[in-house]
Amino acid sequence: MLLPFFGELVEREELKKLAGEEAVKHIEDGMIVGLGTGSTVEYTICKLGELVRNGLKIECIPTSIHTKRRAKEENIPLTTLEEHPEIDVTIDGADEVDSQLNLVKGGGGSLTREKIIAFNSKKLIIIVDDSKIVKSLGIDFPLPVEVVKFGWQSTKKALEQFGWQPARQKLEEIGCTVELRKVMGDEPFITDNGNYILDCEFERIENPEELEKDINNIPGVVENGLFVNLVNEVIVGGKQGILTLDK
Ligand code: 5RP
Repeated sequence: MLLPFFGELVEREELKKLAGEEAVKHIEDGMIVGLGTGSTVEYTICKLGELVRNGLKIECIPTSIHTKRRAKEENIPLTTLEEHPEIDVTIDGADEVDSQLNLVKGGGGSLTREKIIAFNSKKLIIIVDDSKIVKSLGIDFPLPVEVVKFGWQSTKKALEQFGWQPARQKLEEIGCTVELRKVMGDEPFITDNGNYILDCEFERIENPEELEKDINNIPGVVENGLFVNLVNEVIVGGKQGILTLDK
């Protein structure tokens, strides 16, 4: 059984590469580019590195410490949001994409910086392989929520009880189970901002727009991984080739 599984992994990497490399076609000389985080964006970073070595003039703003390091390794010029508050194009990955092009993000724990960069971009391009396209958000992937360390257990409790608040008729039946994200051993995962991640497993997310705001209203929550009405285009790598989704 190991071989078919390995074959599937190799194939998925090919589809990520297809999407990751396709996205650079949107990049032109002089642009300020937001660089997302994750294994799909890795292919974009490599391709951009090649184009920069061949003379492309861009400056990039990374969404994580990891992406910053990778961009430096590829000699891609970097800048900051302070220097360039308006970004021309951002290219980022996602964990789930629905038919409205709303997303769940944060599998790599970089959701807060990713959302700040996305919000300040004229164009947000999402790159995924076709396994990320879902009918409803929250089914395949828990929703990551970044929380401050102080009082995190209370924030966790508030998230767990969230679905059952009687005043919230629409959310009443949703409910979620919440896990503190850990790394190897039993250590909590720490974000680039020095916070924790709580992974919230919902049965389904019916109203992402409302849920995004409601979760962010809980004291202790920094940001959550729902990206609503931010995406301009999704580039999907599939067995039949590239598929582009836009609104
Ligand atoms: C990191 C993210 C990533 O973009 C998301 O997890 C997708 O990653 P990958 O391309 O490795 O599947 O949101 O916080």
